Amino acid sequence: MSQKGFTLWFTGLSGAGKTTLARLVEKELKQRGHKVEVLDGDIVRTNLSKGLGFSKEDRDTNIRRIGFVCDLLARNDVVAIAAAISPYREIRDEIRRITTAPFIEAYVECPLDVLVERDVKGLYKRALAGEIKNFTGVDDPYEAPGSPEVLVNSSTETPEDSAGKIINRLVELRLVQAALEAALSEDEDSVVRARLEALGYV
Ligand code: ADX
Repeated sequence: MSQKGFTLWFTGLSGAGKTTLARLVEKELKQRGHKVEVLDGDIVRTNLSKGLGFSKEDRDTNIRRIGFVCDLLARNDVVAIAAAISPYREIRDEIRRITTAPFIEAYVECPLDVLVERDVKGLYKRALAGEIKNFTGVDDPYEAPGSPEVLVNSSTETPEDSAGKIINRLVELRLVQAALEAALSEDEDSVVRARLEALGYV
């Protein structure tokens, strides 16, 4: 595989499961020998985007920064995984356009009532009570992707199911090798190959 780097861009409402999935996919890809970096909105906002708020302008700046760093990483053979709400379609599409390495959009869908019910960070309750303004999905827009490369739904799938679906899609797109192929190319003459041959797999 000549080009190993790409950007995997998670988008979805707060609490939908972007970070959880980013970490699961990261773990799986690392096990398969990829170099991986996760740029998570909550973390990026404590350093690279420190001081930015949640106006459209600030969100756009945040997303452009994340997109820029993802591309730097991706063109150096790293799998860059972004996990930020990234609510505006136009900016996500802009990142897709200017990015030089492959760009894969993964939409983590989850109905708002399920998120309000879960309310992991306690922010939805506060937003609904009017204590936090411009909260995505409550009184600020979220524009779902029209045709993401992969769509998962965290209200109907387990995190493991969704992560598996994403990995399969990456294999389908030939950005990641199937587990079996990867094992073979990592260690051609190994015991693994002999075992697989003995079992009639190759
Ligand atoms: S983005 O819109 O710029 O992509 P980002 O993913 O970095 O957002 O940050 C979202 C996180 O910030 C949420 O998961 C939540 O923890 C927190 N947050 C605080 N205020 C808001 C708000 N008004 N809207 C959305 N998320 C908020």
